[in-house]
Amino acid sequence: MRGIIPIVAIVCTLLAGSMVAGAIESSDFDDPAVCKGCHAEIYNQWDGSMHSIAYTDPVYLAEEEMASNETEGLTDTYCARCHTPIGVLSGEVPPIGHENISEVSKKGLQCDFCHNVNKSTGIGNGAFMVALDGFKRGPYDDSKSPSHGSMLSDLHTKSEFCGMCHDVNHPVTGIPIETTYTEWKEGPYNSTTQCQDCHMTPGITHFEANPGKASGIGPDRDHIYTHYFVGGNAAVTGVIGSEVHQQMAEERLKSAATLVLEAEKKVSEAEITVKVTNVGAGHKLPTGLTEAREAWIEIMAKDASGKEFYHVGGLDSDGEVDPDAVMYHVVLGDASGNPTVKVWESESVLSDNRILPKDTRVEKYNFAIPVGVNGPITVEAKLNYRSASQKFLDELFGKGNVVAPVIEMAGAEDTIELGKKAPDEGVPGFESIFALLSLLVVAYLVRRNGK
Ligand code: HEC
Ligand code: HEC
Ligand code: HEC
Ligand code: HEC
Ligand code: HEC
Repeated sequence: MRGIIPIVAIVCTLLAGSMVAGAIESSDFDDPAVCKGCHAEIYNQWDGSMHSIAYTDPVYLAEEEMASNETEGLTDTYCARCHTPIGVLSGEVPPIGHENISEVSKKGLQCDFCHNVNKSTGIGNGAFMVALDGFKRGPYDDSKSPSHGSMLSDLHTKSEFCGMCHDVNHPVTGIPIETTYTEWKEGPYNSTTQCQDCHMTPGITHFEANPGKASGIGPDRDHIYTHYFVGGNAAVTGVIGSEVHQQMAEERLKSAATLVLEAEKKVSEAEITVKVTNVGAGHKLPTGLTEAREAWIEIMAKDASGKEFYHVGGLDSDGEVDPDAVMYHVVLGDASGNPTVKVWESESVLSDNRILPKDTRVEKYNFAIPVGVNGPITVEAKLNYRSASQKFLDELFGKGNVVAPVIEMAGAEDTIELGKKAPDEGVPGFESIFALLSLLVVAYLVRRNGK
């Protein structure tokens, strides 16, 4: 503790709603290791989650630093509030980075922060308040612990708890930067399924009960909310999170969407229809940091020998997605209306074609079937996802230094039969041109010989 501040005064200040930096110390919060003593299972689920690495995530730290440099530090408190709330509440951050920061603040979004939240002032931009009164807030009204007070908090059981941070607006221009809560609120899940039902139970796309104990020394309960907080990030979890979280992120992405493919031959053209449905995400697909995230369709066609003759949506030699690909994402614009991945310069949303919850997108492709190709033709379509575009990573880490893995969310295959002579209608094939040429040669020779 910095000086001796009577605890009652702190509590009163907090309950009154004013949070003066310095009134709270990071040492007022227990390290997650303390909670682990009695909540080992929950601790192990949280450890390695994106919440546990929210302030050690190298992608976050690189962007925080760039934003700070380009705005002379204006973004420091703003960004860190959601990524290290204890760091900001205790006044350790700013300065940004790790130099002055305690271990407890470094652990991002952790037990004693979330369970001391006693009030929300609204949605977005870190609208939380905390009370350091020794009570841990949670879903039970009958919970007893030998080491802390327990209190029911309705807020913790609702999407509004998550919405305090999972909606981000530019503090000056007001541009929506992340809108996960709003997308949920305006969608079909708002009355049936809370964020917690999909992100804190084994169900992934729905509530699924997880009976057990909240603490080794607690009673049996019908349901314990899990703490993996898994989203789509299989990139950073794989590097500094854990293998379990990485695999769960891949599994979640594969549960989010379905893809149906129909390939047909119309005269000498192939007509392809791809239907993508957001079956499992309670918000748009993708959501969150959508100026960086990419979800797109890749489509390929091969002849009978496996030789590819059509491909849209692959990666080029710089790691960029083919510009002709159907891409579901958000493009932010700067003051001159040019696309930017730097959220602090964003003044407009140039486009947003993400897939609404439960919505289906129908995409059409046409290509000429090359003459002489050996059938049947195999057409393959995939819905791909990656946590960041190459442009975004190049901006932060230099060209080509960091690459995000591409994960196939859904895929399908169909074949086009070509019959005996392919293609048999319309444009003459190689065979017929060759036959015509031979006829001309024969006619020429006949005429010469006849002379
Ligand atoms: C000495 C053991 C012990 C320690 C240490 C401990 N807890 Fe608990 N905690 C319990 C027990 C036992 C329960 C009751 C479980 C039940 O009711 O099912 C509990 C319940 C809870 C609840 C549920 C409250 C409610 O009313 O819904 C929360 C939240 C909680 N603990 C958070 C924490 C956090 C955060 C830490 C670390 C700062 C922590 N606990 C440390 C034993 C402990
Ligand atoms: C991002 C915020 C957040 C973090 C970080 C977090 N929790 Fe929770 N926790 C919740 C919410 C929200 C619930 C209640 C979910 C509901 O009821 O819908 C909960 C529920 C609980 C419960 C009640 C039993 C259960 O799981 O349903 C305990 C005990 C608990 N948390 C302990 C911990 C411990 C220990 C840690 C750290 C290892 C931790 N929490 C980290 C948000 C958090
Ligand atoms: C205090 C702010 C805060 C609260 C409250 C909060 N989160 Fe988060 N959450 C974050 C931040 C910041 C990250 C990103 C960390 C990073 O990428 O470095 C994150 C990441 C996540 C991710 C991982 C995203 C991915 O790309 O894989 C999921 C899932 C998630 N949160 C769900 C929830 C749910 C569900 C709740 C409510 C129970 C919740 N969060 C409450 C701040 C918060
Ligand atoms: C019906 C189940 C469901 C509900 C409800 C739901 N989610 Fe999700 N969430 C998913 C699935 C599936 C994914 C993976 C697909 C994706 O990334 O969109 C996901 C992904 C995410 C991601 C990672 C996005 C990315 O690509 O970086 C975050 C963050 C997130 N959810 C937060 C929330 C929050 C906050 C809420 C509540 C406002 C919520 N979710 C409600 C199922 C759900
Ligand atoms: C209102 C809370 C909030 C504020 C303020 C905020 N963020 Fe975040 N940030 C989040 C949440 C929630 C996520 C997770 C969304 C997702 O996974 O798609 C996130 C994710 C990120 C990620 C993705 C990390 C990864 O590994 O993919 C980066 C980078 C990031 N934020 C940078 C920033 C910067 C820079 C600022 C300040 C300009 C900032 N954030 C301000 C809540 C916030």
